[in-house]
Amino acid sequence: MVQITINNKEIEAPESSTILEVARKHGIDIPTLCYHEALEPYGVCRLCIVEVSGSLRKGIRISCIQNVMDGLIVNTKSEKVLRNRQFLFELLLARSPDSKELIDLAAKHGVYESRFYEGDTDDNCVRCGLCVRVCRDKIGAFALCFAHRGYDRMVTTDFESLSEYCIGCGTCAQICPTGAIRMKDEGEERIIYTKNGMVARFKLETCDLCGIPYAPRKHLNFVIKNSDESMAVNVARDLCPTCARRTGAVNLVGSMTL
Ligand code: SF4
Ligand code: FES
Repeated sequence: MVQITINNKEIEAPESSTILEVARKHGIDIPTLCYHEALEPYGVCRLCIVEVSGSLRKGIRISCIQNVMDGLIVNTKSEKVLRNRQFLFELLLARSPDSKELIDLAAKHGVYESRFYEGDTDDNCVRCGLCVRVCRDKIGAFALCFAHRGYDRMVTTDFESLSEYCIGCGTCAQICPTGAIRMKDEGEERIIYTKNGMVARFKLETCDLCGIPYAPRKHLNFVIKNSDESMAVNVARDLCPTCARRTGAVNLVGSMTL
């Protein structure tokens, strides 16, 4: 354990934790966009910046990737932090002006418009990378990636065409904080798509009991493979989540992967 100070409050914290984790545990609010507790920190949105001194050279650090250390002094709302964070909000708003979540978060931090917005985009993807990372690190499908650089950076698939690796689980859509990547079931078809186009499309398998289309075969195979390897439970293989619940079987298709 180490002793640190956050906003003049003395705190004892495990050495392996980040400033963000410790702050959140103690009810100290730091805004984040690219952080998710189920994934390794990525440090890309920079909104979680804090000012440090004491055992680290005085300056601005990214709290989701900076570990705590004995004697560390942290200020989450110094004048320098607030000024830099407002600037970051303006940059993000200029690139993703259609993200309601970003607009709300920025407003909560006193930013209502961006002096950098040129009126030439209607994007709501904030480039947090959560969809790409969850697909790669939790599902192991590697269906999504980033293409292009700087202002043109966007979430897409290999060769920007329908992904052969996507299993149609929809975890990307679940984790996306802005709804920029979506999953839609229509009749017997499931599609996963972004503003830039379709990621993948699937025919849905139907439930053995009620006959309702509910999951792509690739997703079912993924669930079967993983549940067989790691769980000694009565897994419903051909039932939708509702019928599985009714019959007392376990259906992992409808459960969160996170
Ligand atoms: S699509 Fe959503 S999760 Fe993926 S980078 Fe954009 S905002 Fe983040
Ligand atoms: S939350 Fe730390 S950089 Fe995005």
